[in-house]
Amino acid sequence: MDIYNRRGGGLLITKKILLFCDPGIDDSLAIMYTMMDPEIELVGIVTGYGNVTKDQATANAAYLVQLAGRKDIPIIPGASNPIQQEEVTFYPEIHGEEGIGPIQPPGNMQYQIYPFDTIRLIIERYSNELIIVDTGRSTTLATAFTLFPDQIKMVHSFYVMGGAFFVPGNVTALAEANFFGDPTSSNYVLKFAHNLTITPLNVTQFAIITPDIVDVVSKNKKNVYAFMIAPVFEYYYEFYKKSIPGISGAPIHDLLTIILVKNPAIVDFIYYDANVVEDKEARGLSYIDLRPTSETGKTAIATKLHYEAFIDEFSKVMLPE
Ligand code: BDR
Ligand code: CA
Repeated sequence: MDIYNRRGGGLLITKKILLFCDPGIDDSLAIMYTMMDPEIELVGIVTGYGNVTKDQATANAAYLVQLAGRKDIPIIPGASNPIQQEEVTFYPEIHGEEGIGPIQPPGNMQYQIYPFDTIRLIIERYSNELIIVDTGRSTTLATAFTLFPDQIKMVHSFYVMGGAFFVPGNVTALAEANFFGDPTSSNYVLKFAHNLTITPLNVTQFAIITPDIVDVVSKNKKNVYAFMIAPVFEYYYEFYKKSIPGISGAPIHDLLTIILVKNPAIVDFIYYDANVVEDKEARGLSYIDLRPTSETGKTAIATKLHYEAFIDEFSKVMLPE
């Protein structure tokens, strides 16, 4: 479907994205980006536990779309916990108590939430044009796979932020947070998603925004989120300064995944079938079979980031003229 290009006047082909997420600072930046990019049409947000509780993630998503004046985007609450256990570990030291660093949605904010079946309706409506991006724990997306198998087949493609292939994890020595959160659901998605691209830590850890870029964005009068960019970044960067000494900025894992939908050339890929370890000891460890005799597989796994191209894309959207 085409929409009229608000910037230049010509016709634009937009990417229709249904975003599964757990905002969270980098998820929040991903939502901001989709709101600001005229080449992306965000057709729904499905929220789940992860960085914060499901309810907080839902409120954060609603707040961010409302700031952009978009009350029309359906917000669909998903899973409250992983399938292995009820307890969930949240990460206030990275994302803040409420998920957007020091920023909180107004206490009296009104917003509508939509039932889970809305996912089925969205897929049927956009069908082969729909791209599903998952930047949260995999529980909610795996649930959609089990509930709507016929509709899932209609989806054009899937993009998942998760994993760390033969590089250190971030939540444990071995595992990246999204695949650690619910490795069984991650495995399910990795096995059954067609046309699947993964952005693991191998690339997202290098998708860093630095204080100088943040300074410019926060002064941009046309960016509706400019008022919160600096405090949110500072909160996030404090954590990364402690966990990766010497790092020059903070990695925006989830936003890189969104950028890739439009610009796959900003990374290099290898093609394998990806797996996640579900057992206790190595829970969440992601791996591929790299033995000389192994066959390549169906999943595009991003392995190297072209940093300048990434920053160009980030700036193009976050610094509107
Ligand atoms: C992923 O885990 C979450 O904490 C972030 O939002 C991102 O999706 C990075 O490992
Ligand atoms: Ca996330």
